[in-house]
Amino acid sequence: MSVTRSAVTGIGSYLPEQIVTNADLAKFVDTSDEWIQERTGIKQRHKARDDQPTSDLAVEAAKKALADAGKTVTDVDLIIVATTTPDMTFPAVASIVQAKLGAGVGIAFDVQAVCSGFVYALSVADGFVARGLSKCALVIGAEEMTKLMDWTDRTTCVLFGDGAGAVVLEPREGQGTSDDQGMLGFALRADGSKTDLLYVDGGPSTTGTVGHLRMAGNQVFRHAVVNIAEGITAACAAANIEIADVDWFVPHQANQRIIKGVGDRLGLDENKVISTVATHANTSAASIPLALDAAIQDGRIKKGDMILLEAMGGGLTWGACALRL
Ligand code: ACO
Repeated sequence: MSVTRSAVTGIGSYLPEQIVTNADLAKFVDTSDEWIQERTGIKQRHKARDDQPTSDLAVEAAKKALADAGKTVTDVDLIIVATTTPDMTFPAVASIVQAKLGAGVGIAFDVQAVCSGFVYALSVADGFVARGLSKCALVIGAEEMTKLMDWTDRTTCVLFGDGAGAVVLEPREGQGTSDDQGMLGFALRADGSKTDLLYVDGGPSTTGTVGHLRMAGNQVFRHAVVNIAEGITAACAAANIEIADVDWFVPHQANQRIIKGVGDRLGLDENKVISTVATHANTSAASIPLALDAAIQDGRIKKGDMILLEAMGGGLTWGACALRL
């Protein structure tokens, strides 16, 4: 049976120039490189300039993804940005990106599912592309989490970083099997009863301020391992594949111990798990496309490989996506 799938045909990413090491943080908050590395695996993070909004990071990643796909801005008819750190409350970062890229009138909006945002945004874009409503979609994860930090709170400020990753999605014809190129299966979840475990204590309709990120780290950790493992299993079932069929797991990069905990729970081969948490830290919705791009650029992930993306974040939201590159 012939089916139209949305397929990743280009990828790009961008990290701001400034690198902040654990030792840099230890100069003004009561922490140490040893503690941060042991508990999280993080060695450093990138930090955007004060005058460099999220849309600038998104645009840099988008330009690289379009070049990689052999497309120009005039081809783009849909832009979805997954972000929890928009330039402004509105308009959407996607609209600003559209203008900065010089793309013509099309569809542009943001998706807000915090660290799961990129997986959520991919599923939304998949709906447009697979139904013939978009011929060339840009899906971007872009975040400046450092701008949500309370720099006096050592339990959160050491964990996050800034960055952006983008993919181009185009329609590809398939046979309706897991050999097809493109998106094969999604599992998306949210449990709003746990919003208090990870949230920002501000907003336009409450405090009128941006606010700072607050987290019950221990509890989030426990939910992360269980929920992500469930999401991976469900996405494999939706794609009609076994976990053993997956060539590469590209997890949300929150914490090396979460990545390992999920791997142990599902018996994953650690050589198949991509980790960039040491150098990127947690870039929320940007972390998956950043990690995917890193592993494609260094030659580990190749065209035709079966990829499993998975994430969990504030909401609580979580999800996974199986795709063939
Ligand atoms: N430096 C030094 N000491 C610290 C720091 C720090 N940066 N942060 C906390 N501590 C101290 C605590 O105060 C505590 O001290 P105490 O025993 O005297 O009270 C001690 O270290 C242990 O604190 P815990 O919170 O129990 O440490 P834990 O091992 O749970 O690690 C961490 C904390 C890293 C936040 C962990 O819980 C975690 O990774 N949780 C997952 C949260 C996460 O990654 N969220 C990201 C967003 S959600 C997502 O993306 C999945």
